[in-house]
Amino acid sequence: MEHPNRNSFPKIETTEQASKWNVSCSQRAKNTFNPIRNFVQNTTVKPNPEKSPIRLSVGDPTEFGNLVIPQQAVHQLSENILSGKYNGYTMSFGTLEARKAIAEYFSSQECPVQPQDVLLTCGTAGAIELILSALGDEGKTVLIPKPGFPLFQTIASSLGLKTKPYRLKQEDGWQVDLEDLRSQIDQDTVAIIVNNPSNPCGSVYTKQHLQDILDVAEKCKIPIIADEVYANMCFDGIPFYSVASQSRNVPVISLGSISKLFAAPGWRLGWLIVHDRLEILLDAGVVQCLHQLTMRMLVPSSLIQSIVSTLFSEHCIKEQSRIVEQLERNANAAYPLLREIPGLSCTKPQGALYMFIHLDLNVLAFENDVEFTELLWKEESVFVIPGSCFGWNGAARIVLNAPGPIITEACHRIRSFCERHHYRV
Ligand SMILES: Cc1ncc(COP(=O)(O)O)c(C=O)c1O
Repeated sequence: MEHPNRNSFPKIETTEQASKWNVSCSQRAKNTFNPIRNFVQNTTVKPNPEKSPIRLSVGDPTEFGNLVIPQQAVHQLSENILSGKYNGYTMSFGTLEARKAIAEYFSSQECPVQPQDVLLTCGTAGAIELILSALGDEGKTVLIPKPGFPLFQTIASSLGLKTKPYRLKQEDGWQVDLEDLRSQIDQDTVAIIVNNPSNPCGSVYTKQHLQDILDVAEKCKIPIIADEVYANMCFDGIPFYSVASQSRNVPVISLGSISKLFAAPGWRLGWLIVHDRLEILLDAGVVQCLHQLTMRMLVPSSLIQSIVSTLFSEHCIKEQSRIVEQLERNANAAYPLLREIPGLSCTKPQGALYMFIHLDLNVLAFENDVEFTELLWKEESVFVIPGSCFGWNGAARIVLNAPGPIITEACHRIRSFCERHHYRV
């Protein structure tokens, strides 16, 4: 069975007719590969027709219709369309109104944010692309978590940047292995990407752990890119601390979007916030370069920008908290069911949208995690993503976005599947 996280890409065969034309593909395009999208979009395995499909694969909160965008924002959007006032271009880095709303939401006494620190992007994905484009030329290196969200590597490779993984310690609740992080830094390193709360691990870092990561960054004089797309999506009263809130001297670029927070990934609105207390990024020209780069695309759409202040209103934030409550209930229901299954082990999710499950392949009769996920889909119609898509073999990621009874049903199906595929001694 082919490994989905392979480093080679499907080979492009040029026909005789095409080769006579002055047409070719860029290396950049050939280097662009997203293992999750590849796995989800190109799987040829069919689900069991006897069982209703349960897709716990893509981190899309809208998949089952139970997690919804605050309705006031939807009404405001339809009013704004009809008003005809939002059909034009905005400033390339976004409207002041939208940036002000985001700045106010993320501002705190120890970490003030001004509207001019905020740039709007096409989702967090657009923010990752923007900051990596600004920070590094071809051949430079970005440090990424392992296991980690594969888009970091997808975008970096596409831009000609190299990535080096640093290890997260499963035995330590998926905290960063600080020694490993330090050992990966060299003269080519341009940034450390920290993803908290984590996709795929569902972990949330403590203040102390963030300070330990910042210490490494400060000693080595490397800025941090904080992917905080799951900011404030924490369970069981666990607090969320942003990386920037703990930084005194390290420049931090925080990224986020309305995709998960407000269950609106298709609206494609994200942001990048520059936290640069010592004006290091400013003096190095990075802030100016970020602005220059926003002039290429003019995203996100003016209409979606027009409802950002509504989304961040008190009323919508209150409604949004129900999304997190539902995810928390799902995490609390799924964890004890999955933990009990012989051959599986997992840590309790503390936040985000996911559970990352270790597969003991000495106990479960599968060659690898790809075979596990493909057969689970084929036999039980439950679709999850192999850990190898996140750079971690022998695991599977489950999305917690479904209504409670569906999550429970999926866990029961996973149990009978694992029992059937258990090595008998
Ligand atoms: C860690 C992380 N970063 C970025 C993204 C991209 O999100 P967006 O829809 O905001 O582009 C995702 C989506 O799953 C994610 O999990």
